[in-house]
Amino acid sequence: MELKVENLNVNYDDKKILKDISFNVKNGEIVTIIGPNGSGKSTLIKSISRYLKPASGKIYLNKVNINQINTKEIARNLAVLPQVKGVSSDISIEELVSYGRFPHLKFGRRLGIEDKEIISWALEKTGLMEMKDRYVVTLSGGERQRAWIAMSLAQKPKILLLDEPTTFLDICYQLETLELVKELNKTLGITVVMVLHDLNQAARYSDNILVINNGELWEYGEPCKVISEGLLKHIFKIDADIYEDKINNCPYFIPRKITA
Ligand SMILES: Nc1ncnc2c1ncn2[C@@H]1O[C@H](COP(=O)(O)OP(=O)(O)OP(=O)(O)O)[C@@H](O)[C@H]1O
Ligand SMILES: [Mg+2]
Repeated sequence: MELKVENLNVNYDDKKILKDISFNVKNGEIVTIIGPNGSGKSTLIKSISRYLKPASGKIYLNKVNINQINTKEIARNLAVLPQVKGVSSDISIEELVSYGRFPHLKFGRRLGIEDKEIISWALEKTGLMEMKDRYVVTLSGGERQRAWIAMSLAQKPKILLLDEPTTFLDICYQLETLELVKELNKTLGITVVMVLHDLNQAARYSDNILVINNGELWEYGEPCKVISEGLLKHIFKIDADIYEDKINNCPYFIPRKITA
């Protein structure tokens, strides 16, 4: 599913948070949004998922303005892993994951065999099958994160929005999550827009990187173009040396020091 964002402006009260953001994501691409804390990344994800109403500008999914798509239709196509997640106290992992199927159920219908198979697949893929009956509130940060990822997978979306999907995960699950995202992207053709703070992971897993700084689009392009000494210096305030990862065919860098 392709995504087009056109001259997007978003405010909180009177404060301008996103300023005239425009970009396209082609069907089947992985795009990662990077930028400092507070720059507007989550605001952008929330606007695309229609959780926030823009002050002006337009957002299109497959050339249709999202304002003209009904909520259930959006939920059938677009899944969101928010950065901050609420959890009711008395649901199990399996129940949480089953919520991912709700947009696909016909009115008044219960989960069918196919829905249950998809839920099991999502639990397997995230390593949660063994603990599927545990209450979500009792989970560690990383386990809870994986339960939410499983719910978005169960939604079987055409476009997946992930706001910091690897937060709280140990390095092994970080890689496993990103490998899983890539696998879903390749095998099911799911378009992915995600926010990552680890810029080396962004470089490795993205077709394109979008840099947001202070609510403005600073740069948008392939990792080898975007990840530069200038970006790291001006946007992230670090001096770094950039190398080429010949195995994964992407740049990577080692931070040296914080710029004065
Ligand atoms: N509900 C709100 N009301 C007022 N201001 C808000 C609200 N939510 C976010 N902001 C402000 O909007 C700006 C952008 O926030 P946003 O959450 O999009 O940043 P971010 O890039 O996702 O940051 P982080 O990397 O810390 O997650 C910040 O200055 C934040 O304080
Ligand atoms: Mg955020």
